Amino acid sequence: MEKPSFELLNPATGTKSELPVRSGSIGPDCLDISALSKDQGVFTFDPAFSVTASCESKITFIDGDAGVLLYRGYPVEQLAARSSFMEVAYLLIYGELPSNTQLTAYRTSITRHTMINESLLRFTNGFHHNAHPMAMVSAVVASMAAFYYDSMDIHNPRHREIFSHRIVAKLPTIAAAAHKHALGQPFVYPRNDLAYCANLLNMFFAVPCEPYQVDPVAAQALDLLFMLHADHEQNASTSTVRLAGSTGANPYAAISAGVSALWGPAHGGANEAVLDMLEQIGTADQIPKYLDMAKDKSSHFKLMGFGHRVYKNFDPRAKIIREACHRVLAKLGRTDNPLFELALRLEEIALKDEYFVSRKLYPNVDFYSGVIYSALGIPRSMYTVMFAIARTVGWVAHWMEMISDPAMRIGRPRQLYTGPTQRDYLDVAKRS
Ligand code: CMC
Repeated sequence: MEKPSFELLNPATGTKSELPVRSGSIGPDCLDISALSKDQGVFTFDPAFSVTASCESKITFIDGDAGVLLYRGYPVEQLAARSSFMEVAYLLIYGELPSNTQLTAYRTSITRHTMINESLLRFTNGFHHNAHPMAMVSAVVASMAAFYYDSMDIHNPRHREIFSHRIVAKLPTIAAAAHKHALGQPFVYPRNDLAYCANLLNMFFAVPCEPYQVDPVAAQALDLLFMLHADHEQNASTSTVRLAGSTGANPYAAISAGVSALWGPAHGGANEAVLDMLEQIGTADQIPKYLDMAKDKSSHFKLMGFGHRVYKNFDPRAKIIREACHRVLAKLGRTDNPLFELALRLEEIALKDEYFVSRKLYPNVDFYSGVIYSALGIPRSMYTVMFAIARTVGWVAHWMEMISDPAMRIGRPRQLYTGPTQRDYLDVAKRS
C-alpha cells in the first residue's frame, strides 16, 4: 500500500514540497528528499549520517532496537549455528544460499585463487619490520589493481565475479604474508587441501622446519567469527567502499579504502583496543575507576567494545561470541583466562551503571572477539586484519550491488558552509 507523502512548507516563501515516503520490505520508512533542493533550494543537514539512508540495499538488515541482524533475510544466529563462512560469503554476494553443487564450485574457485603474485609478496617484504599489518594489507590490496588489468572492467559482470573470487581468496594470503614479515619468518604458501580458515591458520602458524597440524577447534572458531563479521549494512567501511567505488574506481582501490576506514578504533580497530583496555584495567577492582573515566567527557577514554550507532540493545553478534568464548576456551583447555573473566565482570558492572543503561550502551561485536583471537595465538595487531578478511565479503557484496545498479551515480554529499564569505586577495606585503 502506498503511504501518504509528507508535506513540507517553507514558512519564508510559502512554497510546499511533497516528500514521498519509501517503504522497504522491513524496517523504518524513509522520506525521499531528492526533490527538496530543486523545490525549496535547501539541503538537509545530517552530520555523521545519523538518520540518512544513503542507498537502497537487499543485503543485510539490522533492527537495532530489537537486536536483530539478518543476512539476506536469514537470522545471524541460525547461520552461526548451522552455516559456514564460505556459504555465508556465497549468500551475501550471490543473494541466495547455494545448492550443494554451487557451494562446491564456489569453494573450489576460492581455493584455486589463494596464491598471490610473487611481486605482491615482495611489496610486503619492503615494509619496516614493525609496520602495522593494516597498513600493509591496505597497500597490498590497492596494488592488486596493477596486476589484474585483464579483468577490471567494472561494467563486465564476469570481470566483477572474477574480482570477487580473487579478493576473497587472496586476503588471508596477504594477511599471512604481513604476519610472517613481522615475525621475520618465511612465508608459507597456501594449501589447497585445506578449507578457508584452516588454510589461514596454516599460513599463519606453520614453519618450514617442522610439521604443523591445524587444530579443527581453532579453524571452526575462526569460521564462526568470520560469519559474524561478514557484513553489517552501511557501516563506515562499507559506505567508504561504496563511495570510492561510485567514482568508477577499480574495485581493489575501493576495498583498500574500506580496509583503511575499518582500521579506526571507533570501527574495526576496536577489537585490538578492547584487549589493550582490558590489560590497562588489569584487575576487577580497577573497573569503577575506568568506568568513571569513560563517563568523563574530558578524558577521551571510552569503554572500547561498548556502544553502537545502530544497536540500542545487545549486539546479537556479541551474545554469540561471548557464548563461543566459553566453548572455545574450554575446548582449547584455556579456561583460566583472566582477560575474559575481566571482560565478563566489566560487562556485568557496566550494564548496571546508570550512564550505560540510560544511553543503551551494550557490548558490541568487538568486545569479546579479541579473547578468541588471543586464545588462537593470533597477535593483537592482527585482530583488525581478521575483521577485514571477513568484512571483505560484505564490501564485495555491496560494491557488486551498487555497480550492477543502472541508476548508480557518484556519491557526493553536500555541506553547510560556515567559513569566510567572499573576500579579496591581499598581497603578502599588505597583510598585517
Ligand atoms: N564509552 C563511553 N561512552 C560512550 C561510549 C563508550 N564506548 N559509546 C557511546 N558513548 C556515549 C557518548 O559519549 C554519548 O554520550 P552523550 O549522550 O552524553 O553525549 C552517547 O553514549 C551516545 O553515543 P554516540 O557517541 O552518539 O554514539 P555514536 O553512534 O556516534 O558512536 C560508537 C558509536 C561505536 C563509535 C561509540 O559507541 C564508540 O566509540 N564505542 C567504542 C568503540 C567501539 O567499540 N567501536 C566498535 C563498534 S561495533 C563494530 C564496528 O562498527 O566495527
